[in-house]
Amino acid sequence: MTMTSANIRRAFLDFFASKQHQIVSSSSLIPGNDATLLFTNAGMVQFKDVFLGQDLRNYSRAVSAQRCVRAGGKHNDLENVGYTARHHTFFEMLGNFSFGDYFKHDAIAYAWEFLTAVVKLPKDKLWVTVYETDDEAYDIWLKDIGVPAERIIRIGDNKGAPYASDNFWAMGDTGPCGPCSEIFYDHGEHIWGGPPGSPEEDGDRYIEIWNIVFMQFNRHSDGRMEPLPKPSVDTGMGLERIAAILQHVHSNYEIDTFVALIKAAAEATGATDLTDKSLRVVADHIRSCAFLIVDGVQPSNEGRGYVLRRIVRRAVRHGNKLGAKGAFFYKLVAALVAQMGEAYPELAEKQAVVEKILQLEEEQFGKTLERGLVILEDALAGLSGTELPGELVFKLYDTYGFPVDLTNDVARERNLTIDQAGFDAAMAEQRKRAQQASNFGADYNNALTSNQHTVFTGYEQEFGNAQVLEILHEGQQVNALTDGQQALIVLDSTPFYAESGGQMGDSGSLTLSNGAVFVVQDTIKLGKAFAHKGHIQGAIATGDKVDAQIDSARRAAIKQNHSATHLLHAALREVLGEHVTQKGSLVGPERLRFDFSHFEAVKPEELRTIEQMVNEQIQQNNALQTRLMPIDQAKAAGAMALFGEKYDDEVRVLSMGEFSIELCGGTHVNCTGDIGMFKLVSEGGIASGVRRIEAVSGAGAVAYIQQMEQQALAVASALKGDVFSIGERVHQALDRTKSLEKEIDQLKAKLASQAGASLLDQAEQIAGATVLVTQLPATEPKALRTMLDELKNKLNSGVVLLATVNDEKISLIAGVTADLTSKVHAGQLVGWAAEKLGGKGGGRPDMAQAGGSDVGALAQVIIDAKNLISEKLG
Ligand code: ALA
Repeated sequence: MTMTSANIRRAFLDFFASKQHQIVSSSSLIPGNDATLLFTNAGMVQFKDVFLGQDLRNYSRAVSAQRCVRAGGKHNDLENVGYTARHHTFFEMLGNFSFGDYFKHDAIAYAWEFLTAVVKLPKDKLWVTVYETDDEAYDIWLKDIGVPAERIIRIGDNKGAPYASDNFWAMGDTGPCGPCSEIFYDHGEHIWGGPPGSPEEDGDRYIEIWNIVFMQFNRHSDGRMEPLPKPSVDTGMGLERIAAILQHVHSNYEIDTFVALIKAAAEATGATDLTDKSLRVVADHIRSCAFLIVDGVQPSNEGRGYVLRRIVRRAVRHGNKLGAKGAFFYKLVAALVAQMGEAYPELAEKQAVVEKILQLEEEQFGKTLERGLVILEDALAGLSGTELPGELVFKLYDTYGFPVDLTNDVARERNLTIDQAGFDAAMAEQRKRAQQASNFGADYNNALTSNQHTVFTGYEQEFGNAQVLEILHEGQQVNALTDGQQALIVLDSTPFYAESGGQMGDSGSLTLSNGAVFVVQDTIKLGKAFAHKGHIQGAIATGDKVDAQIDSARRAAIKQNHSATHLLHAALREVLGEHVTQKGSLVGPERLRFDFSHFEAVKPEELRTIEQMVNEQIQQNNALQTRLMPIDQAKAAGAMALFGEKYDDEVRVLSMGEFSIELCGGTHVNCTGDIGMFKLVSEGGIASGVRRIEAVSGAGAVAYIQQMEQQALAVASALKGDVFSIGERVHQALDRTKSLEKEIDQLKAKLASQAGASLLDQAEQIAGATVLVTQLPATEPKALRTMLDELKNKLNSGVVLLATVNDEKISLIAGVTADLTSKVHAGQLVGWAAEKLGGKGGGRPDMAQAGGSDVGALAQVIIDAKNLISEKLG
């Protein structure tokens, strides 16, 4: 009986448990303690600090089945997916680990035992490699295990640098690493490829299944190899690869898990050819996308979120190729849960959220995909040469949201390449434009620069003596300003905070000893210079000494709002989840605004919890702590940083108790209690997947609540109740209004029908027909129509002409029963009358409406109309 993937996973964990290994669950795809890694890309990631001796566990042997993503960063297989039998964006790594416990001998012996005695692979199908200089490992394989020398291959630094080798494994550019020994499986002659180290090694015949790393060093960013405290072992075997062998298939995409996913993908897209490469791509991608979302990543335009977005979009495009109509990708989550939900309960738990996020993302991209593909096809048709121009690749990226690797994917299907350098250049251009747009508001559109450097003293002080270094007036550097002129003034040092990190710049004054004052409205950064924006009362020149004083009350309010923003950020993550990341913020004296990623409206009860949580933190009155530290250390301490943002090597880390820790250069209160109070004002969506919260704090919060209270009191007094019963009272009042409206409608209908009936009293009998021509008191034109219909219903044979005047405007309506329309034409009748009344109109023979304005002529027209009708009937 062949083993299912689930059985293999189990057998592996059980085997090592029987060898005294602690079974450890898979960690998240987002490395918890490591800012150097985009995704968990190997089983050892969660043990990195244990290898480094910085984390102690109560076990020295561990075994795990770890979910991994290799789609970005050092290990990236995204572009190979679909093109080989064995590459995935997502895979499971089975691994056993020794933390200073056993080393080379046992690591090799365990692997051999599992492969040949537990899952019973034929020994003669197995090949091994060792690092060129690792005689110890070589001898273990040869003498202790008995692998023949012709199947043990030494591999040196085959990648062009010291330690750059298939047999020297490193987690990333820094961190634990060491020589390794790999076990290969020979899938047989019928498949093209050669043994490791041979020119044909990239073929699919000899597949690496297990990598045993002898962890010995910690590599530093300067290339230094520091020996680890204790030699350790880290191994990794791809579950999909070993499953392929044990299920007697050659491609990973033919194992049980993938057969099920491919079937689901075919159903969702309507594809019929189950061998289509695109089905493999889709089946692979649903695994990485779903698990990334489970672990808190959301599609976005930066960092991890952008990798996710790229994978989703690649899947959507392949689905499109397969003939999918509408969103299909999210439908595969159910099939994935069926396959992997038991081993990964977190997946099953979050199925609905994963589906929703994928569906939203897919629908959003679906809209532009088709148009983008048309543009791309056009360009491909007109292409001379074999390279897609960078400009086009950029346009597809910028306008149609085609990630470069997606365009590359399409190009590759036609044996074309893309001009990556051209794309990069276009991208850099755009970054520059965006930067300029965000640095300079309308007032600053003359690209201002300054080479000066200002020392910021405003963390400690609100006042300081300074010297004018530079004056910028209308985009030019000038030496002096005269009374009333607007300018930017750069000082050598300043207590004024310059707008950055969402916090608004300070306002205040620069006063000269002769009494002149430069009134500062705002402060901005020009490179390393702080520029004070404002106008001069008197005169000022470069070199002048000034007393710089910020508006302290305004700054105090800004500080409260800024500190409150940090608490809000932390509370949002606490209540909504780790997927919440900052997308932007604006902190001013009146209120704060915070934009963040979240896929749906925040529920009212969640908002309440968030508000309470922030206020609890305020009441705890924790002291704020600021520390300067190296960026790596800050990230390791868990400081929230914006992904993809460039930070200086040394950063300022701000923490409030245990609750919030963030990188921040802004100004803050001393203790959370100084914030006073926090009140949410609004929550809403501003873009797909991005929400915005506005809030107030301190005196602003009190004022806001008082305003609301006043409104509530006014309503209460109008309803003659107290504030706490207004809800009920308003409902009562609304119910009453509704029933009154109903009553009014009924009365109106009754009145209209009575009026119609009494009108008939005024009718005359002419030549056997009932004729009614009359002016009504002011009646709405719409009611006129109802009235006419009712009158006509009551008449067997007759002619009706009604007129009414509203606001000096005459409305006419005529109706003729069917038997008389050959004699009197309603349209002609109102047309005739309207003409005499200075208006126009006409219509059908049985019903017509018109208007007029000569109110004075109406009485005569009514008399004439009656005569005209009797003539026609007569
Ligand atoms: N960490 C090693 C690898 O990923 C086992 O290959």
